Amino acid sequence: MAEHPAYPVGLRLTGRRVVVLGGGQVAQRRLPALIAAGADVRLVSPEATPSVEAMADAGEITWERRGYADGDLADAWYALIATSDTEANERASAEAERHRVWCVRSDDADRATAWTPATGHSEGVTVAVLTTDAKGRDPRHTAAVRDAVVEGLRDGTLVAPHHRTRTAGVALVGGGPGDPDLITVRGRRLLAEADVVIADRLGPRDLLAELPPHVEVIDAAKIPYGRFMAQEAINNALIEHAKQGKSVVRLKGGDPYVFGRGMEEFQALAEAGIPCTVVPGISSSISVPGAAGIPVTHRGVAHEFTVVSGHVAPDDERSLVDWPSLAKLTGTLVILMGVDKIGRIAETLIAHGKSPDTPVALVQEGTTAAQRRVDATLATVADTVVAQEVRPPAVIVIGEVVAVGRPGTA
Ligand SMILES: C[S@@+](CC[C@H](N)C(=O)[O-])C[C@H]1O[C@@H](n2cnc3c(N)ncnc32)[C@H](O)[C@@H]1O
Repeated sequence: MAEHPAYPVGLRLTGRRVVVLGGGQVAQRRLPALIAAGADVRLVSPEATPSVEAMADAGEITWERRGYADGDLADAWYALIATSDTEANERASAEAERHRVWCVRSDDADRATAWTPATGHSEGVTVAVLTTDAKGRDPRHTAAVRDAVVEGLRDGTLVAPHHRTRTAGVALVGGGPGDPDLITVRGRRLLAEADVVIADRLGPRDLLAELPPHVEVIDAAKIPYGRFMAQEAINNALIEHAKQGKSVVRLKGGDPYVFGRGMEEFQALAEAGIPCTVVPGISSSISVPGAAGIPVTHRGVAHEFTVVSGHVAPDDERSLVDWPSLAKLTGTLVILMGVDKIGRIAETLIAHGKSPDTPVALVQEGTTAAQRRVDATLATVADTVVAQEVRPPAVIVIGEVVAVGRPGTA
């Protein structure tokens, strides 16, 4: 019987009688899926595990507290034979054969007429994996194949775009600080399903190389903007591609809403009537210091951290940052986009009361292969940046936490 491969099929069991013989571990594992399939489950067993008993108490199955008796399978569509009594299993198997009821046997797969596949679910599909023949049965291998497929679909390493249910639109995806492993599972899946990806210079660029050849990858920095501002040109590109019915991913560094102009893009899409999903990302403001061994808070050292943009100098009239107030805080100051202006920033903080000896760390290209950390103090940081040729992108951390993780200081 087992020389041919098994024929895979999906049973639609709603309202149909399924008989389960034996209320032990096998039944406990199989019953939830039978219940979920809407089957009319009748358990025949003198005893049951507490979980199986709870299913009976909840009315999810009916339970007859006795051993198997001939005739139990007469009105079944499907049977699971899993008692510890081999002789009863044999008799039940013979009855199933007589009544042409497909039946799974936990004690002897070779003599069963059906096998239970290793199953998993991902976004509207069931993945079911069967061994080709009973002799080659290797449940751990089928479970491992199932796990690999389900995990791959979840995290986007397996690409299986939806063709019927997929809706065109834009996903603003936070890609994390740069290490391709630091994007979210949802972000990675959406990326794998995209037709068009508009990517920033920062973020997990390595993931772009993994995209299938049909995906159009556009470098946001290279979108021509003629009479528009660069951001407006990016918004227009998002809108135009989405209007063509494509799935568009706007891949951004870190989190879309942390100095990422994510809301501007979201609003532009909303005005154009384009559906937009926002997927958060791991912001460089926390993860890059962390990658260099710096916690932004530490018990007894810093009870707050403040994330500030340093893209305009403290005395610039466009600055929205209250630097004098920041100088008075005792916690950690994390500055993004601040490499060019760090000299002026350090001067301002010192002028408003921060100690010149306050430790400073600059972490360049954090979480990537090129990551480097340069240490200084508020008094020396301007010269250090020049001497050590620190370049953007870098996260600057100011405060006592910088010293916490240093060798010899912990
Ligand atoms: C326009 S902001 C975007 C921030 C991003 N949305 C986030 O949440 O991380 C760009 C700045 O983030 C910082 N940055 C982003 N990724 C970085 C990385 N891998 N290493 C160091 N700094 C990074 C730098 O300060 C850079 O100038």
